[in-house]
Amino acid sequence: MKPIRAGLLGLGTVGTGVVRIVEGHQEDLQRQVGSPIEIRKILVKDKTKAREIPVDPAKLTEDPWEIIHDPDIDILIEVMGGVEPTKEYLLAALESGKQVVTANKDLMALYGQEIMAKAREKGCDVFFEASVAGGIPIIRTLIESFSSDRITKITGIVNGTTNYILTKMSQEGAAYEAVLKEAQALGYAEADPTSDVDGLDAARKMAILATLGFRTPVALEDVDVRGIRSVTQEDIRFAKQLGYELKLLGIAERDENDLISVSVQPTMIRKSHPLASVSGVFNAVCVYGEAVGETMFYGPGAGQLPTATSVVADLVAAAKNMKLGVSGKWAVAPYREKKLKTDEQIASKFFLLLHVEDRAGVLAQIARVFADFGVSIESVMQPSSGDSSGCADLIIITHHAAKAAFGAVAGRLESLEVVRKVKSVYRVEG
Ligand code: NAP
Ligand code: HSE
Repeated sequence: MKPIRAGLLGLGTVGTGVVRIVEGHQEDLQRQVGSPIEIRKILVKDKTKAREIPVDPAKLTEDPWEIIHDPDIDILIEVMGGVEPTKEYLLAALESGKQVVTANKDLMALYGQEIMAKAREKGCDVFFEASVAGGIPIIRTLIESFSSDRITKITGIVNGTTNYILTKMSQEGAAYEAVLKEAQALGYAEADPTSDVDGLDAARKMAILATLGFRTPVALEDVDVRGIRSVTQEDIRFAKQLGYELKLLGIAERDENDLISVSVQPTMIRKSHPLASVSGVFNAVCVYGEAVGETMFYGPGAGQLPTATSVVADLVAAAKNMKLGVSGKWAVAPYREKKLKTDEQIASKFFLLLHVEDRAGVLAQIARVFADFGVSIESVMQPSSGDSSGCADLIIITHHAAKAAFGAVAGRLESLEVVRKVKSVYRVEG
């Protein structure tokens, strides 16, 4: 039986998992595809490097073109990461008629439309399930399972590293730097973890999810991003006291006029909301459809084998399509015009932590500012601090308010003499 032959770009965390699953599950894969699946060549940066698994040295190459130009290779699996030269490799592989499987959200968030257009032109598939939320099958779900519904909102914890850090900070009082090192050692963090902690990795994933969910071409620069560097133990403690968890949350919303907004930011989520209990490296995505209502998809968002299961599932899908002669028919280009909401149109509840003078009339001055900008207060709390400096912390949670109006409130409060510091501001969900 003629095997389906794949070339693998990268033998790091995910690439090693791909080899393990293809070898370990060969019999099942063969039954599903109808042919053996063979990894014929593997691109690495350094052939002499010690590998986690035994690999036939004859399969390793440092020359990408040996794989891309090999006419016997049917499917290119890209798990090397990065945007350049990876984009060039994928476009060249498609040009030569190869199917492509990638786990690369950096590339798909920036150049997904160009790559998909080339795939359609050449009648090839590009599958990218592992690019968002590692082991959770969310891409295929949005494209296929929600094809009959109108999606209005997607919220997600889509970065395992930051969820791991925030969980450890919350549950164990651990220090940020130490937990980040742990996440790197466990293979969750990106090579440069700033893209995790500054929210960029999550923003890339939300751009991909919003594009698929809203059938609209959402670019990375359309995503409003804030990372977790400024989150303090104090914020997490107050959040818990008030019945919230702090999570780095991606939020993509679409209103009845198809106006959309996409953001990533540390967010206070009510403990009763299912996303609040998503801990450690786990990811979860909630999808709200007009017809279906609320759905939630949960699972490991990173790590060797969880991510590799998605990659190998894509490999099976690409192989089956080849056998059926239907490659290149899967992905529909986003067809809805992009209309972004302004800050006046984006609304949510907000949490505000102020350090203020602790004397009569201060709260009245602060409340006046909220009234001036038409922002309604839901609750106010002054935690007892035992502070002898004559100052106190004040926590305010608003009702739904426009982002622009709330920004104006925070700006005005900064300039009040009685407000010593605007310590933290968070969106509130759930
Ligand atoms: P990794 O551990 O750093 O592995 C990268 C591999 O690619 C290595 O084998 C490296 O070779 C090879 N490589 C990198 N640049 C190369 C170049 N220019 N030429 C030749 N070989 C090159 O990365 P990873 O964690 O497996 O991630 C791979 C991709 O999967 C990324 O796009 C990442 O965002 C995505 N992803 C990762 C996870 C995860 O949990 N790690 C989850 C979802 C998606 P050497 O081994 O010789 O250095
Ligand atoms: N660095 C990413 C994360 C890996 O922490 O979620 C999965 O894309």
